[in-house]
Amino acid sequence: MSGFPSVRLRRLRRTGVLRGLVRETELGPSDLIYPLFVSETEGGRSPIASMPGVDRLSVAELAREVTAAWEEGIRAVLLFGIPASRDETGSAALDSDGIVQTAVRELKGLLPDLVVITDVCLCEYTSHGHCGVVQEGEVANDRTLELLAAQAVSHARAGADIVAPSDMMDGRVGALRSALDAAGLEATAILSYAVKYASAFYGPFREAVDSAPRFGDRRGYQMDPGNVLEALREAALDVEEGADILMVKPALPYLDVLRRVKEASGMPMAAYHVSGEYAMLQAAAEKGWIDGDAALLEAALAIRRAGADLVITYGARSLARWLV
Ligand code: PBG
Repeated sequence: MSGFPSVRLRRLRRTGVLRGLVRETELGPSDLIYPLFVSETEGGRSPIASMPGVDRLSVAELAREVTAAWEEGIRAVLLFGIPASRDETGSAALDSDGIVQTAVRELKGLLPDLVVITDVCLCEYTSHGHCGVVQEGEVANDRTLELLAAQAVSHARAGADIVAPSDMMDGRVGALRSALDAAGLEATAILSYAVKYASAFYGPFREAVDSAPRFGDRRGYQMDPGNVLEALREAALDVEEGADILMVKPALPYLDVLRRVKEASGMPMAAYHVSGEYAMLQAAAEKGWIDGDAALLEAALAIRRAGADLVITYGARSLARWLV
């Protein structure tokens, strides 16, 4: 005797409490990482047209925003800097009084237990918008590594708990690890954007920080969307080089990749629900075509189910409010 009618799966779906008892995947505020844009040029807040609800913030506004998020249960933030000036090599990225370094000091002073993660990349700081130094029309890998390592050390000295290289140069995790260790910063962790695809879903982000490449594109360093075996190789290399957490980015179009990298590496995993993914939900919600908050929650839960321990999302605060 098996199967229907003695087996009825609807029995445990009958009430919210029953569903909660048997839910396989949990999502809580402590699983979320809140990405924020801090700007050296803004006096207060300036909205980003393609990312409703997300603003570029001055350091003072950032402090207010993060304090409110902390009170709602958010425990980790990921900072992106918008500098006042840009040049060929992105030198503002290395300034110990640069925008990210200043923001990190401010946040750690205010909320010592907050986990502050910084994006390590040059594209917000270079005049050409590429993620590294350009030589003869190409991003020069090894020269870029030296600058990224110096940027990471400078973030860590300011108090960053975790540095997150997003540039996709070969060997950057190893370069960051040795530079951090040499500076006595062996406790600073590395969250590697190990598997980052050359994606159309970064469009709104590039508008937010004005980092679209002025020539060419990023396909010479970010991954081809058709590849998954290559993702496993990227992940394995980063683990060997000392990464503490691996990221897959974007999230929803790459859940299969997330699952495979998680299974192959056994590493703590993050997935980035990127600006374009966020913007699509917001746009449809604004039109009244979907329930934006419910869709965001479903997306975040799906990302957790696929293997992410941590979900990086611009909707972190609305999720946290919902989840408490
Ligand atoms: C910087 C960086 C990008 C994103 C995170 N770090 C943009 C890019 O690679 O062009 C995208 C994040 C998002 O779209 O939300 N290299």
